[in-house]
Amino acid sequence: MEFAVGWLGDAYPWVKAVHVIFVIFWMAGMFMLPRFLVYWHPLPLDAPENQLWAERCNRLKRIIINPGMVVVWVLGIALGFHLGWPLWLWVKLVFVLGLSAFHGWMIGAARRFALGKRPYTEKTLRLVNEIPSLVTFFVVILVIVKPF
Ligand code: HEM
Repeated sequence: MEFAVGWLGDAYPWVKAVHVIFVIFWMAGMFMLPRFLVYWHPLPLDAPENQLWAERCNRLKRIIINPGMVVVWVLGIALGFHLGWPLWLWVKLVFVLGLSAFHGWMIGAARRFALGKRPYTEKTLRLVNEIPSLVTFFVVILVIVKPF
């Protein structure tokens, strides 16, 4: 298989459409997971609901955000080869790498919550909740306006 510029041919808009569909799934989960932690945070460590929140976070990870992230990356890279990696795309990649790190961080935090730890204050969680919004803001401007 050759990854020359234009290699996707007529399939390009379809690949882009599926990319955006999975972007929506991934981003929905990126907005939900830190919010779940905000709701989970004040529960006493011996409350039975702890088990429920652990299960919710686990399902969100397994069914939505992990598969969503993988599909977005694979199709995004395919689109990148089609376009020949313009500069705006490299800048977008910096934001997407940051979002992927945030993804891993939140999954790790949920795992620690499930072990009865509360490594961050509620205020910190509320603040980091804004990270996916910031990434969305910059990424959408980069892909639509393509300022450079
Ligand atoms: C994982 C790495 C990613 C890569 C390599 C990538 C790459 C690309 C490329 C090359 C395009 C085609 C742009 C065009 O045809 O003009 C595209 C479209 C798009 N991407 Fe990504 N992307 C990635 C992740 C993301 C993420 C995380 C978001 C949202 C937060 C996103 C949102 C979009 C949107 C909204 C479009 C459609 C733009 C249009 O209407 O043309 N992408 N992406």
